[in-house]
Amino acid sequence: MDDLRQKYLDAIAGAGDENALEDLRVAAVGKKGEVSLKMRELGKMTPEERQVAGPALNALKDEINGALAAKKVALADAALDARLKDEWLDVTMPPRPRNVGTIHPVSQVTEEVTAIFADMGFAVAEGPQIESDWYNFDALNMPDWHSARTEMDTFYMHRDEGDNRPPHVLRTHTSPVQIRALQDQGAPIRIIAPGRVYRADYDQTHTPMFHQIEGLAIDRDISMANLKWVLEEFAAAFFEVDHIEVRFRASHFPFTEPSAEIDFRCSWDGGTLKLGEGDDWLEAGGSGMVHPNVLKSAGIDSNEWQGFAFGLGIDRLAMLKYGIPDLRAFFESDLRWLKHYGFMPLDVPTLHGGRVR
Ligand code: PHE
Repeated sequence: MDDLRQKYLDAIAGAGDENALEDLRVAAVGKKGEVSLKMRELGKMTPEERQVAGPALNALKDEINGALAAKKVALADAALDARLKDEWLDVTMPPRPRNVGTIHPVSQVTEEVTAIFADMGFAVAEGPQIESDWYNFDALNMPDWHSARTEMDTFYMHRDEGDNRPPHVLRTHTSPVQIRALQDQGAPIRIIAPGRVYRADYDQTHTPMFHQIEGLAIDRDISMANLKWVLEEFAAAFFEVDHIEVRFRASHFPFTEPSAEIDFRCSWDGGTLKLGEGDDWLEAGGSGMVHPNVLKSAGIDSNEWQGFAFGLGIDRLAMLKYGIPDLRAFFESDLRWLKHYGFMPLDVPTLHGGRVR
């Protein structure tokens, strides 16, 4: 029995892979294995012999099974170690940039802005670019007689002659995503919604398609103070300075009450823009406390819930941060422009990467 024990324990210790281990299991403790055959001989023994040999054989079987199991784990560990060594990849290696083009400033800034708001607990929401006039206007407290509808230079989709349903529109802002997100998720909610918007307008600072980012935070006790803090945190992180003063300028939007234009403190001394210091103010977007009628359209009880919304221009943020003078060039697909203002692929901003505070 000692010979048997030594033979199998040595063989198990030396087994090179799982197949060899399985062969040993069959040879030792399988149905016709050596240990099993020995156990069958117990029947021919005298009761005295059996009293000694029985427990000893059982112990041997347990010991071999234990050794098999331990070796199996050791082999799996070794295989994993080998794979980890083999498949090692240096993820910090720079990419070969020129072969894969550049990241457009709008994509880059969208990522940057999203990373900052994600860190403050905002999730990303989306809506369609072709929107019903209900979502784009009515649900946002702009009934069809409202003057804001014409002020927005809306693009209307075609309807066939005789089809008298109200036409769909190319969304004029990202605010309809407020309604869609509230309908989907209810309150409380904290979302941002970056995306394309459309208005019939074209000059150095306006293109018929541009980008906004909507923010929405609804809970039981959210106030303008929370809005201001969120915008200050955002601005400081985005422009990579310690602090930026945010000024609210009284304004009017049908979907917020009160409403405020958002200004960041800045200086234009020497023709260059510096944020966070100086006597000038930079217009960054619109904001306010979500109007009770907006909450009502989305099926939210305005006696229980309240909160803020804001809308920022992504392209404008990109122009300011990266010193890009003409908005029209953003969307002309000029390779020289893209090479100059584009970003290295994989140079993606993350909070933990240290790019953003
Ligand atoms: N939707 C507004 C615009 O496009 C901006 C805004 C969003 C204002 C949210 C207030 C609240 O001008």
